[in-house]
Amino acid sequence: MSATAAEGFGRRAAALLRSAANDLKRDDENAERDLGLEPGTFADHTSGKRPVDWALLRRAAEVWPLNERDLLPVHDDCPAGLSVLRAAESLAGSRVLARGGEGYYEYRDTAMSRIASYRPEWIRMLRVVEDNSADNPRVQWNRGHLLYQFTYFVGPVNYYYRWGDTSYCVPMETGDSVWGLPFAPHSFTARTDSEPAYILALTYGGGLVGDAQRELAVLGRRPAHDLALPVAGSPSSLPGLIRSFMAARCVTPAEIADRTGLAADRLTELCSPGATATETELALLAEALGVSVRDLLAPRSTSHHGVSIQHGRDARSWDYPGKDDPAYRFTQLAGDPLHPHTTALQVDVRATTASDDARLVTHQHQYLYVLGDAPVEVAWEHDGQRRTDVLEPGDSAYIEPLVPVTFSATGDALPRLLLLRIAGAVTPEVRHALGSMAQGGIDRYIAEDRLWYSKEGN
Ligand SMILES: [Fe+2]
Repeated sequence: MSATAAEGFGRRAAALLRSAANDLKRDDENAERDLGLEPGTFADHTSGKRPVDWALLRRAAEVWPLNERDLLPVHDDCPAGLSVLRAAESLAGSRVLARGGEGYYEYRDTAMSRIASYRPEWIRMLRVVEDNSADNPRVQWNRGHLLYQFTYFVGPVNYYYRWGDTSYCVPMETGDSVWGLPFAPHSFTARTDSEPAYILALTYGGGLVGDAQRELAVLGRRPAHDLALPVAGSPSSLPGLIRSFMAARCVTPAEIADRTGLAADRLTELCSPGATATETELALLAEALGVSVRDLLAPRSTSHHGVSIQHGRDARSWDYPGKDDPAYRFTQLAGDPLHPHTTALQVDVRATTASDDARLVTHQHQYLYVLGDAPVEVAWEHDGQRRTDVLEPGDSAYIEPLVPVTFSATGDALPRLLLLRIAGAVTPEVRHALGSMAQGGIDRYIAEDRLWYSKEGN
């Protein structure tokens, strides 16, 4: 960690300590007594003058009802807003993993950041098969894994996936892509060894890694199963949500019938499998339960047997920002409405200079990989500074949310990029919470710097 990075980490740890003490309604004297600190020193820890070290974290987690993790900030490994991993660095980390005693895949890490849940790998298929059968015994299946997986295919790659007891094989070509759900077994092979056959396997945690996983691990198996809600289209998606809120509010069907003016029979129906509600009924129920209509609407998924496949040959493409002298041509890659904040795009860069109209800004984290043979110039703005870099084929990058970025060609050869944008922990719920805080709240939320009241009084 550089001195600046360590300083930032220390500052964020100090703010978390103050924030936690405020939550627990401890002023400095109380905190010092609880944590066994010298009188007058707590403020030094919360201002960054003294470090929040392991001993202090351990003591806090012992005497206060919190976890060490609650007091630990994340590392900022992307201080410039964009960080690059060169193809040579990727190659240096190459490793072959064997299945059944024989090399099956060559893995190379590509750009990752501690700020986002990406685990993007470049993976080459070492196993060559002669057919497109899902039951080919030379196909080595994995056991599935936690992370969602977006996969972009390059060359003659066979994609295998299993849902329930059925296995499938889809022959893929360059430009095809697939989005897959967690824990479904899958595999990849090459149809020939006479041309490159590899994938960009961009796995990411979405909301599944982090606090939710840790909370459920404590609650246990049974609650985790009971908390699972079906997506839209399932007979129990609407009744599941209604019943969940009714239990939360401790209300009976009779009470909800009374609040909504709906007939008791109709309410029983709405709480039973197969129920659908009219817009009016949804509005009445939302009002009666004190929620928003969107809280009663399950998200939909277009995945089939656990995957959403998008072949390049029928993918939608469009020019950006307009048809005249476009800066880019985008092609929509695989995705799913279950993840509205994931966007996968193939970017064909068309221009050698990028105008202001070509600036791309998003609330999402971004991952970038240079496909094809042409280098690309990347320009971005961060902390009021404009920066540029040239990325060569095989280079990859991570870009922080809201960092404006443009791509342009460095010569006649037009670059092609793969862009995968994902949500972080700042979900729409969090963004709405930020938007409804009292004045000055957002700044204190990200770096609490004071006791929650004034000792001197107002
Ligand atoms: Fe995978």
